[in-house]
Amino acid sequence: MTAAGFAYRHLFARDLPPPAPPWRGFPKYNFIGGHNDPLRIPSTAMAEAASAVLQRDGTRLALYNFDGPQGYRPLREFVVAKAAQRPAITCSVDDVLITSGSGQGIDLVNQLLLEPGDTVILEEFTYGGALTKLRRLGVNIIGAPLDEDGLDIDALARVLEDLGSKGVTPKYIYTIPTIQNPTGSILPLERRQRLLALTRQHRVPVFEDECYADLTWDGSGPPSLYSLDPQQVIHIGSFSKTLAPSLRLGYMVAGPDVMSQLVACKREMDSGTGALDQMVVAEYFSQSFGEHVGGLSETLHEKLDTMVDAVEREFGTAVEKMWYPKGGIFLWLKLPDRVDVTKLVVPAASAGIAFNPGPEWSCNPAVTKSHLRLCFALPSKDVIREGVAAFARVCFEETGLPERSANIRRSAQN
Ligand SMILES: Cc1ncc(COP(=O)(O)O)c(C=O)c1O
Repeated sequence: MTAAGFAYRHLFARDLPPPAPPWRGFPKYNFIGGHNDPLRIPSTAMAEAASAVLQRDGTRLALYNFDGPQGYRPLREFVVAKAAQRPAITCSVDDVLITSGSGQGIDLVNQLLLEPGDTVILEEFTYGGALTKLRRLGVNIIGAPLDEDGLDIDALARVLEDLGSKGVTPKYIYTIPTIQNPTGSILPLERRQRLLALTRQHRVPVFEDECYADLTWDGSGPPSLYSLDPQQVIHIGSFSKTLAPSLRLGYMVAGPDVMSQLVACKREMDSGTGALDQMVVAEYFSQSFGEHVGGLSETLHEKLDTMVDAVEREFGTAVEKMWYPKGGIFLWLKLPDRVDVTKLVVPAASAGIAFNPGPEWSCNPAVTKSHLRLCFALPSKDVIREGVAAFARVCFEETGLPERSANIRRSAQN
């Protein structure tokens, strides 16, 4: 790298994201992002799958998109078979597009539907990555209230009516109905039906993100929104959480009108999603999906319990509300209003702790300053215990909470 730097920085386009700081490695207590459990990465089985599929199909890598622009056919066949189970989707390989992570699916839907000045409805607490993308696109984001079962449909009806009275029809409602990020709720069937009736009445499409839906604690869950009304819904999913985020593989399910347009948009974005990743995942998951996901969910559930115990022991009554997730990898918490978690980020980082501050996961950042999200998938149980204790110490030093005496009383009882 030259010390003088690039001579034409003044030519950089306006409205770029803030420059990325140099990467300094991962923190010791890493409770951020959507990382997975390293001990649950089936590396030996994946190596065998890679060897088998390369010996069988490897020469096909000579072509761009050798099974067409929608992705490796056996992986699309696997998605069709998987979608026919709990999501209850009846579709064909022509309705499936493999994407470079489900984040690309979000970009594609945004490209398909959004223009600056448009309005979209999201769940009041939602995936930070989706919020970042939308803010950069210059669309109006409206938060719809959630409760412990996900979207509150009566409240959503009021939001839609209010927008309607101002002459605004939202371009979509983005929802994570099965293992909501960050609250971990599951939208019950009756609410799904009411959501679809409501959105049909208001003529607003539903954008369903099933990133975590395969990771419910008992493997069950209501049918997907797409299965209940395919004309009304675009559906995306991911292999990041069920297998490995570094693979960068996701998928979309949509009917022909939407699909043909998505394929055209993706062609402009890239020259196809990496075929080797798709081949390995198809080879491995077509044999082992149920067993792998069952074992992973069990591990995640145990880690959640470890984290909940640690949070209760270390933070005691300073946690005003804890959303106990029904699956997935996150714990969403609320501390008292006087704790501004954004002020904890730097001191926590100095103590080797990373967490997700609530405002980044909220449509209304100003009212979510005392919320935070902890990911329990990556750290071991010992690291979870140590890290939560270290985080409580930082929080106490910065805010006086959790009150140490209250915690001592509480841990003495345990
Ligand atoms: C709800 C949700 N959707 C989509 C994504 C994007 O994931 P990926 O691009 O790894 O599939 C994430 C990542 O954490 C997420 O939480």
